[in-house]
Amino acid sequence: MKIMVVGGGGREHAIIKKLKENKSITEIFALPGNGGIAADATCVAIGAKDIEKITAFAKENAIDFAVVAPDDPLVLGAVDALNEIGIPCFGPKANAAIIEGSKVFSKNLMKKYGIPTAQYEVFDKAEDALEYIKTAPIPTVIKADGLALGKGVIIATTREEAENAIHDIMEDKVFGESGSKVVIEEFLEGPEVSVLSFTDGNVVIPMISSMDHKRAHDNDEGLNTGGMGTVAPNPYYTKDIADECMETIFLPTIKAMKAEGREFRGCLYFGLMITKNGPKVIEYNCRFGDPETQVVLPLLKSDLFEIMKAVSEGTLADVPVEFYDDKSACCVIVASKGYPVKYQSGFELGLPKAESDTDIFVAGAKLDGDKLLSAGGRVLGVTAIADDLESAIARAYEHTAKVKFENGFYRHDIGARALKALKK
Ligand code: AMP
Ligand code: GLY
Repeated sequence: MKIMVVGGGGREHAIIKKLKENKSITEIFALPGNGGIAADATCVAIGAKDIEKITAFAKENAIDFAVVAPDDPLVLGAVDALNEIGIPCFGPKANAAIIEGSKVFSKNLMKKYGIPTAQYEVFDKAEDALEYIKTAPIPTVIKADGLALGKGVIIATTREEAENAIHDIMEDKVFGESGSKVVIEEFLEGPEVSVLSFTDGNVVIPMISSMDHKRAHDNDEGLNTGGMGTVAPNPYYTKDIADECMETIFLPTIKAMKAEGREFRGCLYFGLMITKNGPKVIEYNCRFGDPETQVVLPLLKSDLFEIMKAVSEGTLADVPVEFYDDKSACCVIVASKGYPVKYQSGFELGLPKAESDTDIFVAGAKLDGDKLLSAGGRVLGVTAIADDLESAIARAYEHTAKVKFENGFYRHDIGARALKALKK
């Protein structure tokens, strides 16, 4: 069985390592992969957005199954193109990936089907948005409609900041065409929970919950990043909240997508906020989260490939999806100094040997002979698993301390808030 994984970050590394547990898989190609992934898959220099080359490669190499991991190729229709040439895939088609690709679409979907989310208005003219801002409750949240590399959300704490955001997004187009429409929404408060789920369009199976840490520096200071670390499970996601989410959010979303003729097959990511009025959707992603995947998949007991195949075939109800519910995981991201703004690459990485309870997922690196050099903002994800959260955090940091990377930095408080919540 030959598998192809589209993407080249820490998330893809975690997916590939988990897939390798299935013994019917004889070869895994990563497009483009990275210098660290090269230890676990054959990397092919084809960009994740180059759909023509991706499909040509799949055809020439008789790929049996493809996993499309990042948002861009999904929104651009990579799965549609691969399906057209007869290659089964894990991942939604473009008409379902729009749930992440357009915030206007997802907000309107939630409104139409009564799925709890922040109140909002949509604007396609800057002058109307600016008029609305004059009386909108502050703080207010401004979101560019389309994909903006996770940067298209601005939380304005003053009217002036809100006005500037509108000018930047809609007039100066700092996020390109993704800013031709904006959503302006109610500011919600409460702990955030990431719940990734497997769905074949009919059945939805939530994975173990997790908590991301989006800001670059300790104590949630600094700029928003793609994510600087994660823990799983998320202590705020209690059994009662999980049941409520299934009833008011997960199932209604799957049914809504089906009713709209946009059946979603793949990993649907629910970004939730547990407000005092119950859980609400902050965002949907049409894919595995990064670095959520680096804590969630190591806790998956069942066979990932069997699940992915069932998702693509619409038979998810027939396969076991089990997690190590009695264990916890922590992932610490090591990034290049200066990330998420300006950083240098090309520094040599020295990785400690994996131990039975730890793993390293490489997010941004390239090979230079047998040397591994940093190449990107987020460079490594160091994951540890233990019987409880406190030990998982301690083990992740012990292992992270052994990484040699002169230009690297990491947060020192991944999981601290979760631990505090547990001890309350
Ligand atoms: P997103 O890019 O949609 O993940 O948003 C980035 C972050 O902005 C989220 O993780 C939240 O912390 C925050 N955020 C987004 N929408 C809201 C909202 N309506 N109220 C408060 N915070 C929000
Ligand atoms: N870690 C958040 C995301 O993958 O969007």
